Amino acid sequence: MRKLAPLIIITITLCFAAAGALAKPISDATNDCLECHSSTMNGVVTQWAKSNHYQSGVGCYECHMADKGDKDAMEHNGYTIAIIVSPRDCGRCHPAETEQQELSHHAKAGDILNTADGLLGQTVGGEPAVAVGCRQCHGSIVKTLDNGKLDPTDWPNTGIGRVNPDGSKGTCSACHTRHRFSKEQARKPEVCGKCHLGPDHPQKEVYEESKHGILYSAFSDELNMERPRWIPGEDYFDAPTCATCHMSATSTQPVTHDVGDRLAWNLRAPISKRTEGWEKKLSSMQDVCKSCHGSDFVGNFYDQLDQFVALYNDKFAIPAKEIRDILHDKGVIPAGNFNDKIDWIYWELWHHEGRRARHGAAMSGPDYAWWHGIYDVAKHFYTELLPEAKELSEKAGKPEVYEEILEKYIINRPEHEWYVKGFDPNQVEKMKAYYLERYKQKVD
Ligand code: HEC
Ligand code: HEC
Ligand code: HEC
Ligand code: HEC
Ligand code: HEC
Ligand code: HEC
Ligand code: HEC
Ligand code: HEC
Repeated sequence: MRKLAPLIIITITLCFAAAGALAKPISDATNDCLECHSSTMNGVVTQWAKSNHYQSGVGCYECHMADKGDKDAMEHNGYTIAIIVSPRDCGRCHPAETEQQELSHHAKAGDILNTADGLLGQTVGGEPAVAVGCRQCHGSIVKTLDNGKLDPTDWPNTGIGRVNPDGSKGTCSACHTRHRFSKEQARKPEVCGKCHLGPDHPQKEVYEESKHGILYSAFSDELNMERPRWIPGEDYFDAPTCATCHMSATSTQPVTHDVGDRLAWNLRAPISKRTEGWEKKLSSMQDVCKSCHGSDFVGNFYDQLDQFVALYNDKFAIPAKEIRDILHDKGVIPAGNFNDKIDWIYWELWHHEGRRARHGAAMSGPDYAWWHGIYDVAKHFYTELLPEAKELSEKAGKPEVYEEILEKYIINRPEHEWYVKGFDPNQVEKMKAYYLERYKQKVD
């Protein structure tokens, strides 16, 4: 047997005392790693010693081992290792999770260059901002230097769709932070909140505002998140987390690592559409809800969501897109993205405000559905998009273009006609009477 450094003997002995014998012994190769790393990187070793991997004899070498031919292989004190442990490497022992993850949108999130967001990041912003912004969430394309070390311009990075030197896509450690690789940690909403927040996809904030988030913060210590199985309605009752609804098992479904498996809508697109095979996905999500709620409650919730998505699409998103298309086609604004004010108004309308609205409605965050949502969409549709379209049409000497827009999208549509005809006078009178009665105040 190899000689162990004193510190690691203490660490391992402590773990033995706490948890009994290891299911599998630590390999000789890993013991070699520990000999140095228990002093050079004590934190890594200590975290690992608290993990299920340690209990199962999965050590440094079992994960970091590499073949000499691998792009990122490096010679390291007698061993061939790689720094990145990619989904393909984890997949040697966890094939099901890896396969599901590969099929998910998460694995494809690194592919953002040729999108409108990409143009905004690279050209309107600039490359250094993309490196510390976009790619920390979406994932970088990690290149290697001649000695097998990783290119410092794309590493460190645990973006969700990282393109690894071995060609595999995704990052397990985006959620299972090294070196504990704990599922308890991944079940908590904070893990998703690194990326799912902010003005264009505030799922974290919506969740915090929802009854579910309120219950999570009140009872998080009663949710038994450390249990090996974690079934809503059996292991816990009070609150679902992001993982509960999007990934974890129920009494009838296994865990999924494809976070799209339970989504019936694409709520981030400019105009929302059903996902492929949405009926099955819908019933998978409803099955989660029914662990804690009755069928009618869940059915009614979804009716409200569907009607809200239809309102967003039909009243605002489709007209806004078509109005911009007409302005392009008739030469009122130049072709392309982000080169006139209309482009920016339209972008924020769907990408920020319209998304917030839909995410608020889907996850029970009323402030996001209305004040940060449809309120902003409506305000900018009526007070920016339409006035700007009018002004630019007139400036271009083509006032008839705006006339056409008004005719088609506003005057002949009951949901918009108030914009040109004003509010119903009866309704206005009732409102005045209401304020007078309630606050003894006159309003106009
Ligand atoms: C002889 C001592 C020694 C042994 C044995 C050893 N390492 Fe290291 N390792 C080091 C030192 C020193 C560093 C650099 C630490 C630093 O940069 O601060 C390092 C760095 C690393 C890095 C980071 C490389 C980088 O560029 O970021 C990894 C990963 C690593 N070791 C894994 C292993 C694994 C896996 C084993 C066992 C197969 C192992 N080491 C064995 C001493 C050792
Ligand atoms: C379950 C697999 C697994 C095990 C076991 C494991 N690692 Fe890692 N290690 C990773 C992953 C994953 C990363 C992060 C890179 C990535 O995102 O792919 C990493 C990164 C590292 C890094 C570079 C990052 C840094 O912070 O400098 C070092 C060094 C390292 N590991 C050392 C070790 C040592 C030492 C051991 C044993 C005590 C060990 N690892 C055990 C998977 C593992
Ligand atoms: C804070 C993390 C974060 C940052 C920074 C970020 N994104 Fe995203 N991005 C996300 C998340 C999360 C989604 C998914 C939103 C959803 O589903 O509601 C997303 C969605 C997207 C999409 C839509 C993908 C699809 O399949 O519809 C594109 C394209 C995109 N981002 C590109 C970018 C670019 C380019 C940048 C930088 C200019 C950027 N993102 C910055 C987290 C981020
Ligand atoms: C988006 C976050 C996320 C990513 C990325 C992720 N996981 Fe997970 N993983 C989870 C959650 C959450 C759980 C716990 C599910 C539950 O409640 O049991 C989990 C559980 C697991 C488990 C335990 C499974 C079981 O049934 O006990 C394994 C193994 C695992 N993940 C491996 C991986 C591997 C390998 C990858 C990369 C290919 C990966 N995970 C990527 C969130 C993630
Ligand atoms: C050499 C095989 C092996 C490799 C490589 C490996 N694992 Fe594991 N993993 C195991 C075993 C064995 C267990 C414990 C038994 C179980 O829970 O399934 C485990 C457990 C887990 C768990 C559950 C931990 C918990 O809290 O219960 C997660 C999460 C996980 N692994 C993620 C990963 C990730 C991510 C990678 C790659 C970075 C990886 N594993 C690489 C064998 C491996
Ligand atoms: C490191 C950043 C990051 C983390 C952490 C992360 N995500 Fe994501 N997620 C993204 C990005 C980026 C996208 C958009 C991917 C695309 O379509 O290109 C996304 C997309 C999604 C989608 C939409 C999938 C689809 O098929 O349309 C869901 C649902 C989701 N994430 C849930 C989660 C949950 C739940 C967690 C936590 C357990 C989580 N994510 C953790 C970055 C992240
Ligand atoms: C109570 C269950 C529940 C919880 C908790 C929950 N979600 Fe959702 N989520 C949903 C539902 C329902 C939808 C819409 C489903 C559909 O498309 O049919 C959704 C949609 C999404 C989407 C897709 C948005 C898109 O652009 O299409 C993302 C991303 C997401 N959730 C992330 C999260 C994150 C991150 C958290 C935690 C902060 C979270 N969710 C918490 C139920 C939940
Ligand atoms: C782990 C149990 C659990 C799961 C799973 C769960 N919920 Fe809930 N939900 C609750 C509890 C508890 C409340 C609080 C009831 C109250 O208001 O007193 C709640 C409240 C709600 C509310 C009321 C919101 C409000 O502001 O009054 C809605 C709507 C809702 N859930 C929808 C869903 C949907 C849709 C799903 C599935 C996508 C779901 N829930 C999944 C436990 C759960």
